Amino acid sequence: MENLQLGLAGAQENGKVPQESRPQRKFLQISARRFPEIADMYQEANSKILGPYDDIVPRVMPFIEKTINTYGKNAFAWIGPRARIIISEPELMRVVLNKHRNYQKSFRVSNKIINLVIGGLVYFEGDEWSKSRMKLNPAFHLDKLKQMVPTMQSCTENILNQWKSKMSMDGKGVVDVLHYLEDYSGSVVTHSLFHTTFDDEMRRNFHYLRDLTIMTDTASKPFMFPGAEYLPSETKKRAKQMEKEVRQSFTKMIDQRLKNRQAGAPDAADRDLFDLFLDELYEGKNKLSDRERKRIIEEAIAQTKLFYFAGYDTTSNLLVWAMIILAIHQDWQARAREEVFQVLGDNNTLTNDGLSQLKVLNMILHEVLRLYPPVMELSRVVEEETQLGNLLIPKGVLLQLPIALLHRRPEIWGKDALDFRPDRFSEGVLKAANGQAAFMPFSWGPRICIGQHFAMMEGKAFMAQLLRTFTFELAPTYKHAPYAAFTIQPQFGAPLLMRKI
Ligand code: HEM
Repeated sequence: MENLQLGLAGAQENGKVPQESRPQRKFLQISARRFPEIADMYQEANSKILGPYDDIVPRVMPFIEKTINTYGKNAFAWIGPRARIIISEPELMRVVLNKHRNYQKSFRVSNKIINLVIGGLVYFEGDEWSKSRMKLNPAFHLDKLKQMVPTMQSCTENILNQWKSKMSMDGKGVVDVLHYLEDYSGSVVTHSLFHTTFDDEMRRNFHYLRDLTIMTDTASKPFMFPGAEYLPSETKKRAKQMEKEVRQSFTKMIDQRLKNRQAGAPDAADRDLFDLFLDELYEGKNKLSDRERKRIIEEAIAQTKLFYFAGYDTTSNLLVWAMIILAIHQDWQARAREEVFQVLGDNNTLTNDGLSQLKVLNMILHEVLRLYPPVMELSRVVEEETQLGNLLIPKGVLLQLPIALLHRRPEIWGKDALDFRPDRFSEGVLKAANGQAAFMPFSWGPRICIGQHFAMMEGKAFMAQLLRTFTFELAPTYKHAPYAAFTIQPQFGAPLLMRKI
């Protein structure tokens, strides 16, 4: 208990220990010596195969689940050098996410490898963040996104054609869809946001950025013993090499763009994210010093890495669970297909107007994001001693916000919280959560995901064309094993039995 009591010394309200942290409460304290126990918890959780309707939280975040079940909804844990508080009350989570200047991103205190991947918008804080966000927001406005639907459709068709070619003479076959869906989200980001070709080099960049993130082991896995991040290791060497290759590739793309730009500025409609990142450079022309030019290019590389990383694993993750869950729930698959045929008819050209009329599909994607949120947990560091509800939290404490757990709490979502019931969203997200603002797959507040509408449009474009082309069910080899690897991944892939319509 000693470490924790040190933490509580700061947790006072007007000189009193607040209700939430009275000493009679039990707290969890894990010394560095006991880290293997946490690792064992994960190993045991991951050794079990779930039934399709089982709760996934004990498998993807066993440590958080156990802590909350034992010590309450807002629980303390002191692990290694840093105190953590798990906050799972939606009101408190919203406060943390709204006050982004008081509660900042935790990259600075996580494993150093993360800094090889994370830069740009998601890394910035304060005024630097506001400036960058304001500049990038227009790239994700609806009028811009609408123009991307044809690209999303052609990327979808590319994947569906590959699946068609795998079908046997009777029009059916088993496909492990996971990596194809990654190729889909990778190609959409590359084509629509960076106007670049999706080839093997781009595929490698996506894989490297994803693998680098997994190496950091930040999500829900507080294993790292104090000081471990400073030790040289094979993993770190490999990580640096991977980052170098990604950087070289993006530098080449940026150089090419600068060369093209010498021939003249693109039309407003043709501007992509590279143009936004490099604007300052174009505008400054010869007035900029070498140092300023270098800073702008470094920032452009960091932003490119971020958007490649943020738009890859997340959307493909939404799609892989959407396919698995619709393979389990054939009734919802049939309803979604019926709607697609009814709304889109024989019109082969997807448009934003058509996609926005697909209400059943929209509810299904919401329900998938509720039960399988790709970003299952957010974390923030308390910048200054801060009052949060009736807790006075000392500077430097790490707050863990388990979104996956919040999305499955029966007090919020009802007794059927664990069931797949897309119609709970029929009257909007607030009604679905019994009037509480507790649906946060894209986070909350000013730092909410900038790509959320892009991702939903991308998801709907894929699902609409898929439902018109194939029916699908689980292949006999499928094992239900959601696994925490930065996002929630199907541990043994997603083999599905597809039938051409
Ligand atoms: C289903 C798909 C997606 C999900 C579930 C998702 C989820 C999230 C979440 C939870 C955050 C907040 C992270 C935090 O506060 O720590 C975030 C931020 C962000 N996302 Fe997404 N995301 C998705 C797709 C995308 C796409 C397609 C892009 C861009 C191509 C993107 C770009 C970003 C960026 C740049 C941020 C940082 C925003 C800021 O700090 O202002 N995301 N996303």
